[in-house]
Amino acid sequence: MTGGEPPAELRTAAEAVFGDRLGRTQVYARLLRGDAVRRGLMGPREAESVWPRHILNCAVVEELLPREARTLDVGSGAGLPGIPLALARSDLPVLLVEPLERRVTFLLEVVEALQLDEQVRVIRGRAESAEIREAIGEFDVVTARAVAPLERLVPWALPLARPGGTLLALKGARAETELRASRKVLISTGGVAHGVLTCGVGIVDPPTRVVVIERATRPAR
Ligand SMILES: C[S@@+](CC[C@H](N)C(=O)[O-])C[C@H]1O[C@@H](n2cnc3c(N)ncnc32)[C@H](O)[C@@H]1O
Repeated sequence: MTGGEPPAELRTAAEAVFGDRLGRTQVYARLLRGDAVRRGLMGPREAESVWPRHILNCAVVEELLPREARTLDVGSGAGLPGIPLALARSDLPVLLVEPLERRVTFLLEVVEALQLDEQVRVIRGRAESAEIREAIGEFDVVTARAVAPLERLVPWALPLARPGGTLLALKGARAETELRASRKVLISTGGVAHGVLTCGVGIVDPPTRVVVIERATRPAR
């Protein structure tokens, strides 16, 4: 008994999503419920629902990631969605960017505990800083969950995607509203909105809603 097992009703879904990495995912669930709560990275109430609201809710976004996509998770916090994506898809090289030291410390511990050091890297910094951009380069896919409203997120997250690459913003119920509000910003940053897609139908309830924005292959005017 690790304390990290999925609830019985999600066991089959968790096995399907994580396969032979289910054991490591249970270790992550235990770290979220234990260390992350103790260190104030996750609220005690959230701890009760780590599997449906955090781990599976994030992992199902893997449906949108091409094979071996170089993936950047901006504002990863306690590792969401980057860690569940890496666990669900061993083909994805993942970089987690997070400015707060204590969160970075937790992320480094998670990577070590889950033996993901060949797949997942962690860097401390703010996504909009020139140093970070220079250090990390561009990615096929940039993910973000609960980091900033789309209007603020797009100007600094989209340029981290390569031309033709994609920003996936996990947004829940506000997805369409935020997308409408970000129209001007999309034009000025060269973003092409592909709308709101739904991931994890039949796996998580409600399914995860993701705003999909492609970085144009030509620079913005
Ligand atoms: C509400 S938390 C969400 C964490 C995680 N993505 C999740 O869904 O649980 C927002 C995170 O974004 C980080 N953040 C805020 N502004 C950022 C920026 N400019 N660049 C990178 N990360 C940022 C914060 O430090 C924090 O960890």
